Amino acid sequence: MSQPTDRRMDRLIHLLAENATVVMPGPKIAAEIGVTRATVWAWIERLRSLGVEIQGYPATGYQLRVVPDLLTPSLVRPELGECEIGKKIVHYFLTGSTNTVAMELAADGAPHGTVVLAEEQSAGRGRFGRAWYSEKSSGIYVSIILRPTLPPAAAPILTLLAGVAGHHAIRKITGLVTDIRWPNDLLISGKKVGGILTEMSAELDRIHAVVVGLGLNVNHRSMPRDLRSIATSLSLEGGRRYSRVHILAALLKEMQRFYLLLQERGSAEVVRGWESISSFARGKRIRVLRNSEEAFGLTQGLEPSGALRVRFEDGREEALISGEVLELK
Ligand code: BTN
Repeated sequence: MSQPTDRRMDRLIHLLAENATVVMPGPKIAAEIGVTRATVWAWIERLRSLGVEIQGYPATGYQLRVVPDLLTPSLVRPELGECEIGKKIVHYFLTGSTNTVAMELAADGAPHGTVVLAEEQSAGRGRFGRAWYSEKSSGIYVSIILRPTLPPAAAPILTLLAGVAGHHAIRKITGLVTDIRWPNDLLISGKKVGGILTEMSAELDRIHAVVVGLGLNVNHRSMPRDLRSIATSLSLEGGRRYSRVHILAALLKEMQRFYLLLQERGSAEVVRGWESISSFARGKRIRVLRNSEEAFGLTQGLEPSGALRVRFEDGREEALISGEVLELK
């Protein structure tokens, strides 16, 4: 089982980032973070393997060339201010799935707003048992533990909420405008840049915890051949690299904003927000796949629960609560 990032490793990153204009002697770093010089050296090598540019001067020490775009707590938390979501951050350089870790932490009593992050996932999970491609330090792989006072049947609105938050965060930081395919795919030019996997532990009448897992393709320079026709990255679309730290911070703040609106005023703001963003909300001809059956219909807006109203070809109208929706061209 992988281990979360050592706090002292995070201190090292923070120390180098704080002193980016000077060369820091190895023994000084070792003393400040409380490890041996050999460990400092090994950790610097590890960071270099992740693409962090650190100059080593044999007689004098280490200096960062560029402040790294890592999602460690010491680099993310200062961007969050008072935001409750992200107060506690658990970071991994590598783990299987941040959603799996978050579900375990939630079962152990982790507080509302705990955020689990990974630079890389070896078993990233998507909907319908699919894998989520999780290239090292290129994407954002984040799971958020929420403890809402909602009945379990109302939990799907949190998936839509995350989609709306993702849309606003991406727009704010990159200027790129994403569409949302019901319930939760973030798209640019019809290709997927982000997906959301929501999991829950609950009793019949009470939610213990909801884990909202979000995967965003940010700085991928290319997508694997088998995904190329259906997936893209922000960088491929915008023609430049983006700060994952800034996108993540904006995402957590938008999650916080819409979560408060949901708790205070119910689902209306989320539903309205989703409908105003998504081209799938109304009048979209779609193919619906459910339990290996397909049907064709036209979208008619959202129910207050977040279910998608569809008029099927045979005249039936139904509110979808699950299933896969694809655009019919
Ligand atoms: C989908 O579109 O099918 C959902 C993809 C969700 C992927 C994210 S990455 C972070 C979190 N951890 C996982 O294993 N999955 C989610």
